[in-house]
Amino acid sequence: TGLVTLDPGFVNTAACESDITYIDGEAGILRYRGYPIEELASNSNFVEVSYLLIYGELPTKEQYEDFADRVRRHTLLHEDLRKFFDGFPRDAHPMPVLSSAVSALSTFYQDSLNPFDQQQVELSTHRLLAKLPTIAAYAYKKSVGQPFLYPDNSLGLVENFLRMTFGFPAEPYEVDPTMARALDMLFILHADHEQNCSTSTVRMVGSSEANLFASTSAGINALFGPLHGGANSAVLEMLEGIRAEGGDVDSFVERVKNKEPGVKLMGFGHRVYKNYDPRARIIKKTADEVLEKLGGDDPLLDIALKLEERALSDDYFIERNLYPNVDFYTGLIYKAMGFPTKFFTVLFALGRLPGWIAHWREMMDDPARKISRPRQVYTGYGERSYVPMNER
Ligand code: CMC
Repeated sequence: TGLVTLDPGFVNTAACESDITYIDGEAGILRYRGYPIEELASNSNFVEVSYLLIYGELPTKEQYEDFADRVRRHTLLHEDLRKFFDGFPRDAHPMPVLSSAVSALSTFYQDSLNPFDQQQVELSTHRLLAKLPTIAAYAYKKSVGQPFLYPDNSLGLVENFLRMTFGFPAEPYEVDPTMARALDMLFILHADHEQNCSTSTVRMVGSSEANLFASTSAGINALFGPLHGGANSAVLEMLEGIRAEGGDVDSFVERVKNKEPGVKLMGFGHRVYKNYDPRARIIKKTADEVLEKLGGDDPLLDIALKLEERALSDDYFIERNLYPNVDFYTGLIYKAMGFPTKFFTVLFALGRLPGWIAHWREMMDDPARKISRPRQVYTGYGERSYVPMNER
């Protein structure tokens, strides 16, 4: 195979150069365009961070207002796209609903098909950022059998999403500022994470010159899996499972250590962070405060705290550098906000969207861009002769 090297899971292979996000996994550092995640989480907002990721700089007031206004104006879905939601089974998982609707955007906006038309790329960017919250809210409304709400474009992105999700037509909806701020902050923390599975997928699909909608739809499907975005739902299912069996944290940890098939400590471990996940640290700090304000005390929080303490002092986890990741506590916060477990990964998708867009655009602008085409190490048969069916 000559110069081909084998690297399953791309543990050691960089697929691109990028100016967007810097991670130092040993030191627990995460920066978007040079700005530390801690500073962005406490001072910025999700729309501003989206601008920063996509365009490379923090916006001036004028740039911010123009961008926020465009994102606000594109929130409505085409009535025919609304009808898609009638066709899905009511108990459908919302992630494939989300990816299907995003894929369908290419059918409604056929001018978006040329990925080199800068004006169309701008439009697709604004449309995606504006419409994904509406699509997500409709996936939720469909699952609970409630009427859809049209967006109210006097509201900000997160407020509008919360209203379309939890509000009712013709009834005023008071957005809880604690909830809106917490969700906005969680979106910031999820907004980019360089070459994770879904972002690499967006780049790989885009490298064939597929448009932004098709590439993002593929990214949503990559995020669906439990080792990636699906982990936030899986953490809650794990905590509920432990609780249903009497809350015995020790015996659960033993099962994890014995590597029982399908039993992992969900929300722990990361390919890049081998010290701690800086996002988890921020989330843990706010989880307590948010849970207290929103949901009273959840017995699952107790289990999570015990589980974390137990794992952090256990040789199995210490030797393997396994620490809580971004998803260990988010599920508890989303639950306190009233989201059903199945919906948590949709919230991850809403947060990760600006990162996907930024990477797709960076790749398209890169003169060194090449179609993604990994090599392989062939391990099958050598040449053999065809055997007629009656002789097999
Ligand atoms: N529970 C128990 N053992 C684990 C865990 C875990 N959560 N994570 C890793 N290990 C073990 C693994 O079995 C292996 O052990 P050994 O050396 O004995 O074979 C060792 O630690 C190294 O793990 P790995 O699977 O080689 O590491 P990876 O970099 O390929 O996988 C991961 C990273 C995140 C997929 C993995 O840690 C995992 O499955 N975690 C649980 C799922 C999860 O929380 N995912 C969310 C990731 S953060 C959000 C996102 O970006 O999607």
